[in-house]
Amino acid sequence: MTPPDGHRPAAPAPRGQGERVPDEKPEDAASRLLEMHDRLIHSRALQTAAELGIGDLLADGPRTAADLAAATSTRPDALYRLLRLLGACGVLTETEPGGPFALTPSGGPLRSDHPFSVRSTLAFGGVIATAFNAWTHSLRTGEASFPEVFGAPFFDYLEDRPEHGALFNAAMEEMSRPVVSAVVGCYDFAAARRIVDVGGGNGTLMSAVLRTAPEAHGIILDAPHVVGAARGKIRDSGLEERCTVVGGDFFQKVPEGGDLYLLKWILHDWPDDRATAILRGCRQAMAEDGRVVLVETVVPPGDTPHPSKTMDLSILALLGGLERTEEQFASLLADAGLRLRRVVSTPSPFSLIEAESV
Ligand SMILES: C[S@@+](CC[C@H](N)C(=O)[O-])C[C@H]1O[C@@H](n2cnc3c(N)ncnc32)[C@H](O)[C@@H]1O
Repeated sequence: MTPPDGHRPAAPAPRGQGERVPDEKPEDAASRLLEMHDRLIHSRALQTAAELGIGDLLADGPRTAADLAAATSTRPDALYRLLRLLGACGVLTETEPGGPFALTPSGGPLRSDHPFSVRSTLAFGGVIATAFNAWTHSLRTGEASFPEVFGAPFFDYLEDRPEHGALFNAAMEEMSRPVVSAVVGCYDFAAARRIVDVGGGNGTLMSAVLRTAPEAHGIILDAPHVVGAARGKIRDSGLEERCTVVGGDFFQKVPEGGDLYLLKWILHDWPDDRATAILRGCRQAMAEDGRVVLVETVVPPGDTPHPSKTMDLSILALLGGLERTEEQFASLLADAGLRLRRVVSTPSPFSLIEAESV
């Protein structure tokens, strides 16, 4: 219960997310587990709010549950309960009991026009959550559970369902936005002349890289149904003269002659045999003295909390992929005829893993 002064007692930090409690009382340990479990409801509430566009509906000021329900074809009493939970999480605030709800600064990124919007990522989270309905399949087989639920492999499904494909690409851009400047600030791209972004998505990374490497020409390779967005981004960035966008399949062919092959968040999508095939293609295509630079999270040893450990389960469920330790990256690269040169950490959860031909 909230004390009269409005201060809640500090919730015990959940294991794996914060401080450990060496002499925790057994009842506190039980509460902590239940709290961790309740986050499922919090994430479903956030996903639903993102799907309904609650952030955008509140952009111009507070609105009542009844008003928001009319705008979202939901029942006012049920929607009120969702909004109340988001109020309790600090995402919204109930401006007076039973009165209009407003976005708090913490809820701001629910808006599509927020500079660090996560609306598409949260809305796409509903798709991920559905894949988790069959997660025990992944646990038993080590394979993706997504096809069990959706009837097709992840990327095939996204191609067949353009509305989910667009949502996924928007989510990738949202997740890249805060990471790209950290990545670009930690590696010297200026010496490169021909940079290939393998699976470059909508071109967010390449646009930032080309700005720091004025002598370089860029090539973005991605699936044919994705490259339209990359072309638009490159055009909007005024980089059309310096960047080619190619639709293709990185398992079949990677553009040749690059001195730098960037792969951001590509290898984590794939189990080792498929990831090695992509790397071999890069090694065969690259110029003498070329480099491969992976942008991935590196799983730290032991119990150290790290976002890679959450993503690892998601990517298993979606694609049968995995987040890797430094040793696993070194071994994967070696299998493709590449040698790990160095791992550069960044202020983000991502590291740059630089490799060269053996
Ligand atoms: C996890 S996303 C990463 C996108 C981008 N590098 C980023 O970090 O935002 C994986 C990308 O690989 C692309 N992709 C998947 N399979 C592919 C294939 N066989 N050939 C080319 N691109 C592919 C997807 O379309 C998607 O853009």
